[in-house]
This record gives sequence, structure tokens and C-alpha cells, in this order.
Amino acid sequence: MLPDPAKIEEAAARLNAGGLVAFPTETVYGLGADAANPAAVARIFAAKGRPASHPLIVHFSSLEAARAFAAVLPEAARRLAEAFWPGPLTLVLPKSARVPDAVTGGQATVALRAPAHPVARALLAAFGRGIAAPSANRYGRISPTRAADVREELGDAALVLDGGDCEVGLESTIVACLDGRVTLLRPGSVSRSQVADVVGHVEEPGADAPRAPGRDRSHYAPGTPLFIADAESLRQEIDAALASGVRVAVLARSATPVEAAGVVWRGMPADPVSYGRGLYAALRGLDAAGADRILVESVPPGEAWAAVADRLMRASARGDAADGVVDAT
Ligand code: TXA
Ligand code: MG
Repeated sequence: MLPDPAKIEEAAARLNAGGLVAFPTETVYGLGADAANPAAVARIFAAKGRPASHPLIVHFSSLEAARAFAAVLPEAARRLAEAFWPGPLTLVLPKSARVPDAVTGGQATVALRAPAHPVARALLAAFGRGIAAPSANRYGRISPTRAADVREELGDAALVLDGGDCEVGLESTIVACLDGRVTLLRPGSVSRSQVADVVGHVEEPGADAPRAPGRDRSHYAPGTPLFIADAESLRQEIDAALASGVRVAVLARSATPVEAAGVVWRGMPADPVSYGRGLYAALRGLDAAGADRILVESVPPGEAWAAVADRLMRASARGDAADGVVDAT
């Protein structure tokens, strides 16, 4: 969907006035504010109901534009930005004095990203400065991948730019370039090996890693509890649920559909890219289906499925990274 110039002007004016603008990126919709205006940034936290200590990603049109927000630009970060920007990659770097504490939750680092979506790019060009934006969901809920989802999440708290359905559908890959180390903080559509191809070695986050999504326990009370089952046990889980009068909504991948009262069935694509694109909309649909439980057929191991597997684990009621949350932030 192409940007409407009049809408983009209106949105840039809204940002200039300290207001909120929800805009599409190729990953998920973001809830944006002027990153240089602490009062505007505070409105993001209020609209989302998000704790102010959770840092935000600042969006720019290019590495040149983002440069002033980083205290230093490590060689690895420069190469990653050249390889993947604009695109679904966020870089965590030492922050410069230009970055307000409101954006970073007082941390010494800042997350920076240049998105590729034409509407996001048009907005960044019209506004001309950094836009701080988390995913445009209320705290503890699934990220929106369609304009209608944003309105459902935030009502009229923000001007919403409609850019159609998000192409990637999962939040950006987050990579920290700090102290000479490159660390994968959140898997996404830019894979770990794509990052490694550019920078050499990529580390897993250790105990001292910067705070990343889902590594904090969440206060979110989940809607429909979600459980993951492999293809073999899925059928038994469904039968057991039905036998005890529990209604189930099933997100299947390869399993044969079960047609029974008390079962809502949703089949997902077999390839990880299409699956990732449709996951959040499918989960929203199943959450609204009135079931007591969501059962998700597990996805294959391996790098191609890493981002999807990560989000399902976070959504799972048994996941230990967060309580029933798909990236609570
Ligand atoms: O695809 C995306 O990344 C979307 C679009 C809108 O750009 N944004 C997004 O933002 O997912 P958010 O706030 O929902 O998730 C970003 C995560 C936060 O959970 C936060 O923990 C992490 O990035 N983050 C932000 N700044 C950080 C920092 N300085 N160090 C470590 N993690 C950081
Ligand atoms: Mg989020």
C-alpha cells in the first residue's frame, strides 16, 4: 500500500506537536512519537500501559540519520546496517548524549532501526528526525500486523496510518554490538547465520546481556491460555480436552483437521515465512473464538523456524520466559 501524501503530512505534524502516530513497518505496526521529546515519549508508555523502564526502538531513515544517537559506531554495527538497512534488523549500541532517558529507560544503550516499509519511510522523510516506537499493542498483548488490530488495541489514542498487512509479521531481529561483542537478543526474519555471515561470531545472550523482550517476567494476565503440542500428541490433547468439556482452538501446521463440536481449527502454511506473516493475526482470531484453550502444533527445529518458535514459546502458558505473552513489550 503506497503512502498518501496528505496523510503523511498530517502524521508528521502530529509528531511535531508531541502526538502519537501508529504506522506500519514491514515487521509489525509501531506506535510512534518524537524521540527527542520526553513528554511525547511518555505518551507512548501511557497509551500502551507499559512500564517506563522498558526501552524503546528509535526509527530512522538511514544509518547516517541514526548515527547521532549512537556514542560510537562499532565496525560490526556499520556492516550490519549496510547489509540489512532499511530492513527488519534493530541494532543496540552505546547511546549518545542526544538520546533522552525516557527512550532508553535510563540504560546506557539505545536500540536503532531503519524500517523498509514505504509508509514508514515516507513518514520518516516527512518528519526528518528519529521516531521512537514500540509495537502498537497494549502492554502484554500480541503485536498488531494490520491497521484494524492497531485500532482494536489503542482506540483513538493515536493517528493510525494504514499500510496494509505487514510483510514479515514478526518483530525485528535485535542484535547488540557492545564491548566488541555481537549478541543476538531477539530472533527475527534476519537469521542468526545471516548476521554471522556479516560479522563472524554471534553470541547468545548471557546473564550480563542487555535487557531483551521476554527475559523479564511479565505481569500480563493471559487471555486464552496457549499450549504447544507436537503433531503426535495433538490429537490426544484435543480428545482429552473435549472429554472434559474444554473447548479448544487449534493452530495446526501439518495435522489433519478435526471436525468436532468444541473445536475451532485453523491451518497454517507449511513454510516458515508465510507462517510468520500470518501468526499474530491467526492468534488474534483464535483468542476471539471463545475457546478455553489454544493448542498450537509445534514447529520444526532449525534456524528457519527460530523466530516463530521463539514467539510461540513466549505465548505459551508453559513457557518460562514470560507468562502467556508474545513479546509483552
Ligand atoms: O519490529 C520491531 O522491532 C517493532 C517495530 C515497530 O519496529 N518494534 C518493536 O518494539 O517490536 P518493542 O518495543 O515492542 O520491542 C522492542 C524490544 C523491547 O522489548 C526492548 O526490550 C528491546 O527491544 N530494547 C529496546 N531498547 C533496548 C536496549 N537499549 N537494549 C536491549 N533491548 C532493548
Ligand atoms: Mg512489543
